[in-house]
Amino acid sequence: MSANRILSGMRPTGSLHLGHYHGVIKNWVELQHSHECFFMVADWHALTTNFDDVSIIGKSIDEMVIDWLASGVDPEKSTVFVQSKVPQHAELHLALSMVTPLSWLERVPTYKDQMEKLSHKDLTTYGFLGYPLLQAADILVYKAGLVPVGEDQVPHIELTREVARRFNHMFGREPNFEELARAAVKKIGKAGKDFDRLRTAYLQDGDAGALEKAREILAASQNLGAADRERLHGWLENKGKTILPECEAKLTAASKMPGLDGQKMSKSYGNTITMREAPETVSKKIRGMPTDPARVRRTDPGTPSLCPVWQLHEVYSDGETKEWVKAGCTSAGIGCLDCKQPVIDAVVREQQPMFERAEKYLANPKLVAEILADGNARAEKVARETMNDVRAAMGLGY
Ligand code: TRP
Ligand code: SF4
Repeated sequence: MSANRILSGMRPTGSLHLGHYHGVIKNWVELQHSHECFFMVADWHALTTNFDDVSIIGKSIDEMVIDWLASGVDPEKSTVFVQSKVPQHAELHLALSMVTPLSWLERVPTYKDQMEKLSHKDLTTYGFLGYPLLQAADILVYKAGLVPVGEDQVPHIELTREVARRFNHMFGREPNFEELARAAVKKIGKAGKDFDRLRTAYLQDGDAGALEKAREILAASQNLGAADRERLHGWLENKGKTILPECEAKLTAASKMPGLDGQKMSKSYGNTITMREAPETVSKKIRGMPTDPARVRRTDPGTPSLCPVWQLHEVYSDGETKEWVKAGCTSAGIGCLDCKQPVIDAVVREQQPMFERAEKYLANPKLVAEILADGNARAEKVARETMNDVRAAMGLGY
């Protein structure tokens, strides 16, 4: 697997807001410097809940990608692509569906939650039940090691791991695995005997040091191809070959961005500030925010911890500003509009470079199309290789 590889995605179902930025995208931008990143427009996933109004999906794709680029996602460093343009996602989804028990999907907590939350829609579809399995295919088709997501997505990552484990268990042993493994040991040469001895010491006596040494022999051996090397890593522990590696979730530290009313920022609550929101609107929205209900008059003292504006100070303000708020609020020394101004300034300041970065893409939409076409091709190249392994393992290698 590629421990250094990252896959993450977002559904194109309308404009993005600061919750997306602080919850996920900021994390992506940082990870690009240290990891090989794949960022995906999850349009198939959008269809699972938006099949009744598909127009919004196409419209949202470019806007969403521009928001990513405006945030600092760098298409030179990262692969930015569209899920449905890489057919291997759908193909792996189908392959995995052959071995995924229905009960695993039915017990994913988001399944019932979303059905209830979106009760105005009929979500008793095959596609909606398969949502997390499609997500598993998204991740596994790149053999990604890490998946940056919000807290709510953790059960999907767990399902992905379970499906990978089951797949490897069922298909990770080629019919002549034992024979191939023994032939591969011969290729190691002189150290092959040591390798056999160390393997026995590990499997029979649980000697962890022996396992370590045997792995060193594999690492040092010049004559092994990638397939043989992997085979022997599996054989060493009496396991099969790892075809689909198990990934881990990577959560953002501050994943709950407060909205204008103190609840989590979310489109369905109507409490958002969008990315690239006009400065006048930012100002208007924040000036209109409710505050500590006890501060009816300017002369009434307030309590920051009971005020949604304070939560935004927690995200945006430095220590000094926060001290100023606490002192001024509790003594009625400042008014609420005074208190809101530094937040307004901070949001506008944060969005300024986003407007600047977005400019060239808005002026020339072809640039976005080119970035995606390039990303789609890069993604497909990796996905195709995984599918070759998967097909072979599942007996479809003809
Ligand atoms: N389900 C994710 C969400 O709603 C979007 C998504 C689709 C995704 N495929 C993914 C996220 C793969 C991470 C990895 O946010
Ligand atoms: Fe809220 Fe600030 Fe007004 Fe206090 S002064 S109630 S923290 S907006």
